[in-house]
Amino acid sequence: MYYPEELIEEIRAKNDIVGVISGYVKLQKKGGNHWGCCPFHNEKTPSFAVSEPKQMYHCFGCGVSGSVYTFMMQYENYTFPEAVRALAERAGVKLPEAEYSEEEKKRASRRARLLEVNKEAAKYFYYQLRASHGAVGMHYLEKRNLTPETIHKFGLGYAGKNGTELVEYLKGKGYTDDLIKEAGLANYSERHGMSSQFWNRVMFPIQDINHRVIGFGGRVMGDGEPKYLNSPETPIFDKRRNLYGLNFARTARSGNLIICEGYMDVISMHQAGFTQAVASLGTAFTQEQAVLLRRYTDSVLLAYDSDGAGVKAALRGIGILRDAGLGGKVINMQPYKDPDEFIKNLGREAFQERIDQAENSFFFEIRILADQYDMKDPEQKTRFHREIARKLCAFSEEMERENYLQAIAEKYYIESDSLRKLVVGYAAATGLDKPPERPRTTVQPKQPPEEKVKKAQKLLLTWLVDEPGLYERIKDYISPEDFTEELYRQVAAKLFAGLGTPGFQPASIVSLFDDPEEQRQAAELFQTTLPQMDTLQEREKAFHDILLSVKRSSYEYYTAKLGTDVSALNKVVEGKRALEKLAKTHISLQ
Ligand code: CTP
Ligand code: MN
Repeated sequence: MYYPEELIEEIRAKNDIVGVISGYVKLQKKGGNHWGCCPFHNEKTPSFAVSEPKQMYHCFGCGVSGSVYTFMMQYENYTFPEAVRALAERAGVKLPEAEYSEEEKKRASRRARLLEVNKEAAKYFYYQLRASHGAVGMHYLEKRNLTPETIHKFGLGYAGKNGTELVEYLKGKGYTDDLIKEAGLANYSERHGMSSQFWNRVMFPIQDINHRVIGFGGRVMGDGEPKYLNSPETPIFDKRRNLYGLNFARTARSGNLIICEGYMDVISMHQAGFTQAVASLGTAFTQEQAVLLRRYTDSVLLAYDSDGAGVKAALRGIGILRDAGLGGKVINMQPYKDPDEFIKNLGREAFQERIDQAENSFFFEIRILADQYDMKDPEQKTRFHREIARKLCAFSEEMERENYLQAIAEKYYIESDSLRKLVVGYAAATGLDKPPERPRTTVQPKQPPEEKVKKAQKLLLTWLVDEPGLYERIKDYISPEDFTEELYRQVAAKLFAGLGTPGFQPASIVSLFDDPEEQRQAAELFQTTLPQMDTLQEREKAFHDILLSVKRSSYEYYTAKLGTDVSALNKVVEGKRALEKLAKTHISLQ
């Protein structure tokens, strides 16, 4: 353990889990929990629950669960000490100078050095653009209608025709060849030594959501190839997980985000006031990026190029957004190629109109589909209708499917009853898209005996977490030693010790484990769903059964150890007495 337990608990207590997770996931209060779409798997309907009283989260879809610490570890890919530091900072808790492991120090300092060298390079490009030989870059940006404010805001720069100056500059600042290469700023060859990756280009620094420069895109001056050159992937530059412009767009509060294809498109839109625009980084839009966007909005508009490639990209993007549970709409850029040209020609009001008129992504898909069939040919028309039916089957919710069915029927002059028949036929043959089965955690028949034992121990802990008051009534019968699973025993010891203390929160137990796997298992303990019971009698019987079962398995466990373990005898005698007494005792849950 790197920090004292009390400190870890203090930091946890000062970081309300609902507050922390809302920074990442849109949550909505329903019943006792806050619900959202799970950030750890793709889903359309929220099955990720955050409990304020328990200070824990649990996903009923994929099964992840834990405390505010495990969340940060899973989400940000932090180690436990990194999560402690991040949350301490968030809550303004001062940490003692910690002992870092060598490896941690190395990893952190390598990343920090990469960020630094990128920042230095960005500064270098920025000044080059303003130097006399950068005039060609400046002139280009001005010709593209960018104002000095915009050029400054995006930190745009210029990489000149000199292939070694940047390397010299960075080395003068103390950065090694290795680091400069690893950052993707230069390449080494026998013939030329170190030479710049970027050459004769206007430079677009790519920033993460915290405005740190993680890579670059460079546009060639003139007609050279490739038109855009990007930094390679590095330990700090993951193209699948970042979006150009998101550092500004995340705070745009426009109720939606716009994805487009290019750096210039993002910049033109921001300059025109559409600060919600982002672009993927010279690669196709990814699932990870969709999950990232979902942190900030549930409505995404696609502003892809209006050519064939753009339409294809939009169709693909729609699928990814839909899988991530995001509603998508498509902005029509006609008769222009992309947002940049559209705004340059028609201005911001016209673009706002296009945003307001953006087409529902399903209608867009069907419209594109319709272009592929000749409706005068009955054969093709039938195929078109079948294809619509097939696509309608993707809506698992009947109401939604029916609404789309009617809208499409009306739009394409199809008899809605016939279309419905097609849908029903298609669904009968292949099945509708089913929502993912939620794993059932209530007791299932035919489990191996150890599993049953574990289950009872787990249920008892869950029950006590839900109703801490019960501990008083059973503490004479049960002790941590009755939990025969090592991890459960540790949790029980901490839980029982804590339940007597005012202000105690079970979530604190989870963070006492160092190992993420143990944290996960400990957290899981608190998430087992109690069997559904209606009457008080049923509940009392269930509770009594669980308690007896835990006690009995403990008795059997120690009996089995009688020959080898002297202390076991005591346990067995005690256990027998407690079991007999418990069997006759009524424990009230009222
Ligand atoms: N792109 C790329 N490599 C290329 C071409 C394009 O990485 N060889 C990426 C860039 O991120 C670029 C985006 O795809 O911003 C869109 O490309 P394109 O439509 O060709 O460029 P525009 O943004 O229209 O470029 P410009 O307006 O500067 O001509
Ligand atoms: Mn363009």
